[in-house]
Amino acid sequence: MLIGYGYVYNKRLQIKRIFGINIPANEVIIGSGTYGIVYDVGNGMVLKITGDPSEAQASNKIAGKKLKYVNEIYAVFQIQHNVMYYGIIQKKLNRVDWIHKKLWDAEDEFMDYLREEDLKDLNDKLFRIYYNELEENYPDINGSFLYYRTLGRFYRNAKAELERYNIWFEDFHTGNIMQNGNQLKVIDLGISATGGLKKIVTLESLIIKANDA
Ligand SMILES: Nc1ncnc2c1ncn2[C@@H]1O[C@H](COP(=O)(O)OP(=O)(O)O)[C@@H](O)[C@H]1O
Ligand SMILES: [Mg+2]
Repeated sequence: MLIGYGYVYNKRLQIKRIFGINIPANEVIIGSGTYGIVYDVGNGMVLKITGDPSEAQASNKIAGKKLKYVNEIYAVFQIQHNVMYYGIIQKKLNRVDWIHKKLWDAEDEFMDYLREEDLKDLNDKLFRIYYNELEENYPDINGSFLYYRTLGRFYRNAKAELERYNIWFEDFHTGNIMQNGNQLKVIDLGISATGGLKKIVTLESLIIKANDA
């Protein structure tokens, strides 16, 4: 990664001044994915460093807001002027124990069905056509409609909630969902589209202003 933890640590005074958040000296990685590395910064918070500007834009749009289906974002900033790397500080969440993780992540007709349908009347009977196809790979799939209905609803609700903030998000997979207590939350707004962009804080520009004042 072009811009590592040290770059953010070097800007810790700006981050403290602007957002009131402490960046500790010790680097603790708690996760990583395609676009970013995630660090535990203590006080129940994580810092993600990402090279995905669309994630920074979407996260910036909901920073400081409390969404039901999306994790709480405390701070978004561009780390270095003219370098497209961003810091996103958000609430630290817990892992989900996924059942049939592979299925939930698969490009599968069954998952598409869950995401598209109004799941109000869903029951095991309606699921049977899918169960018969899926049983070979997932022997315990029978009788799990409640579990899948919950996931399908979460997907639809999270998508709708984000659309109310003019964010179009599609990257739903188990790596991008964690939980806060029993509530599932989207943690990663990568590769999304955002309308009505809000200016992202650049740490340099703000420190200059603060010194001038
Ligand atoms: N808020 C969080 N709390 C705890 N762990 C997190 C949090 N955000 C991310 N992680 C960990 O980091 C991993 C990668 O995060 P993610 O935002 O999905 O990165 P990427 O954009 O690279 O896919 C997650 O799968 C998870 O293990
Ligand atoms: Mg991810």
